[in-house]
Amino acid sequence: MTRYADFHRRSIADPDAFWAEQARLIDWQTPFTRVCDYDEPPFARWFVGGRTNLCHNAVDRHLEARGDQAALIFVSTETQQERVYSFRELHAEVQRMAAILLELGVKKGDRVLVYMPMIPEAAFAMLACTRIGALHSVVFGGFASVSLASRIDDAEPAVVVSADAGSRGGKVVAYKPLLDEAIQIAAHKPARVLMVDRGLAAFSRVEGRDADYAALRARHLDAGVPCEWVESTHPSYTLYTSGTTGRPKGVQRDTGGYAVALAASMKHIFCGNPGETYFSTSDIGWVVGHSYIVYGPLIAGMATIMYEGLPIRPDAAVWWSLVEKYKVTVMFSAPTAVRVLKKQDPAALSKHDLSSLRALFLAGEPLDEPTAKWIAESLGKPIIDNYWQTETGWPILTICNGVEKAPSKFGSPGKAVYGYDVKLLDEQTGEELAEPNRKGVVVIEGPLPPGCMQTVWRDDARFVNTYWKSVPGRMVYSTFDWGIRDEDGYFFILGRTDDVINVAGHRLGTREIEESISSHPNVAEVAVVGVADTLKGQVAMAFAVLKDPSRAATPEAALKLEGEIMKVVDEQLGAVARPARVRFVGVLPKTRSGKLLRRAIQAVCESRDPGDLTTIEDPTALQQIKDLVAPPA
Ligand code: PRX
Repeated sequence: MTRYADFHRRSIADPDAFWAEQARLIDWQTPFTRVCDYDEPPFARWFVGGRTNLCHNAVDRHLEARGDQAALIFVSTETQQERVYSFRELHAEVQRMAAILLELGVKKGDRVLVYMPMIPEAAFAMLACTRIGALHSVVFGGFASVSLASRIDDAEPAVVVSADAGSRGGKVVAYKPLLDEAIQIAAHKPARVLMVDRGLAAFSRVEGRDADYAALRARHLDAGVPCEWVESTHPSYTLYTSGTTGRPKGVQRDTGGYAVALAASMKHIFCGNPGETYFSTSDIGWVVGHSYIVYGPLIAGMATIMYEGLPIRPDAAVWWSLVEKYKVTVMFSAPTAVRVLKKQDPAALSKHDLSSLRALFLAGEPLDEPTAKWIAESLGKPIIDNYWQTETGWPILTICNGVEKAPSKFGSPGKAVYGYDVKLLDEQTGEELAEPNRKGVVVIEGPLPPGCMQTVWRDDARFVNTYWKSVPGRMVYSTFDWGIRDEDGYFFILGRTDDVINVAGHRLGTREIEESISSHPNVAEVAVVGVADTLKGQVAMAFAVLKDPSRAATPEAALKLEGEIMKVVDEQLGAVARPARVRFVGVLPKTRSGKLLRRAIQAVCESRDPGDLTTIEDPTALQQIKDLVAPPA
């Protein structure tokens, strides 16, 4: 048995011993008395009885050995700002932010919604929350008022931390009007809003509600706010993600399990060492930003780069210039970003000294072979695909080079990561597919390892009903992904089993987009599907039935209406959710019992065989779509 196979086997056969050992990677104020309490499946409680604090492990713990070393490196190619915060400076800023939040009335267990661009104050806010035992709920800055309002209503934050604006490609994107509108739409009204004013966009303040960050910070310059030692199982944050239904789910994470899982992943997967620099190109609004911009690298005593800007501005070498300047050793990005770079001048990759870089990790969407080959050859470094989800918080499948170096296989994110008992189930029978090379649903046998979601925020029943299936004698967690495993134990991910699509690495629910489009007064019915795209992986395509089809009678009128509908989506959900096209049809393909035939629509859009259509109500419906996407010659 290889070293890795043994490592993985031990993690499954004796999880208590395995994770007790990993738990030594972090600081505990009070030692735990039980490693895993799985008395009430599928709810796992890790490191029961232990007390710790995420912010302590990310910041305070390093003050003695590396107080003057870089901790947070902020680079904005939008505002031309660059600033390095040492661990000591980060510690001071986080305490100031914590003092402000306390002054605004935030208490342990309260939620603080963070709706911010990629600026240091966003990281200060997250760390300040976990410092005082409050839960942060970061909402991606690309989401607009309706998305934001539904998250405000679910999280019921005491305080919202926001900023006047972000900037993208030199264009100022105002946040405050969207936030004000969201609060107006939401039933829950946060008591206070803390505004970071970057001086990018003028905004109006609500008297008595909106507070100014700079003014409050000036009053708390010497703040000393100790870490609140919380139970290991105390929730550290919620992060919303899309599923099959329109309503996003609040993925709730614990404290101790998450800290241990991240610390272990930094060692066994990312091979990052204290004093080095980590560069993840994600956004704090996504799970990769939580785990591998903010917490993971800092817990490991690494400096982390927070980058605001595009990968190709001022030119396609900007990321590599940062690798050279800050001697980045570990980099994390998404296949889409690599595909964007691939379209640029290839000389960009040879302009800088990349000798510090050991590996580039890619995740979030399938890594296609041409992209993987191009970047591997151009960089001359290992490219390490890793597969996971918002729900798990850290990789499920990858190559754990920190345990034992192993080759990658093109198209495969790798093998099951230690702690994850990954299996494939037959979708029809629910039976485990033990033999290799058979397609099934990727599931994880319970309990989920430390760091994974505890539950759906305030909805245990939804957690159980959405993700878990009882197989005689045990419970399994569904990833909602199709997969296949070869004879060497390498998995290949073959797409989602549900209505989630992945646009440029952004996970979106097609139902959410459908609901938004349906709010246009002329839309009677709509179907949104994900269609393969060479740059973005997938794009959303919408097919709508109109109440008054005469409004799309000419190509010009149809185009105008399409633009109107896209604007609705932009305003409600944000441009990330905007479909690539909205096409108009007379009828949507459905089964005789009224179920939308999404997979058939998707197949037609991708010029594939739509499969068995014996249950279709009106066969001309699919033909209409076919004619639209591939008009007859
Ligand atoms: O479908 C899988 C796809 O993205 C989903 C999770 O998205 P999200 O919750 O945003 O978390 C991203 C964390 C990196 C998965 O269910 N996915 C993620 N990584 C990969 C992937 N598909 C193929 N290969 C991957 N490496």
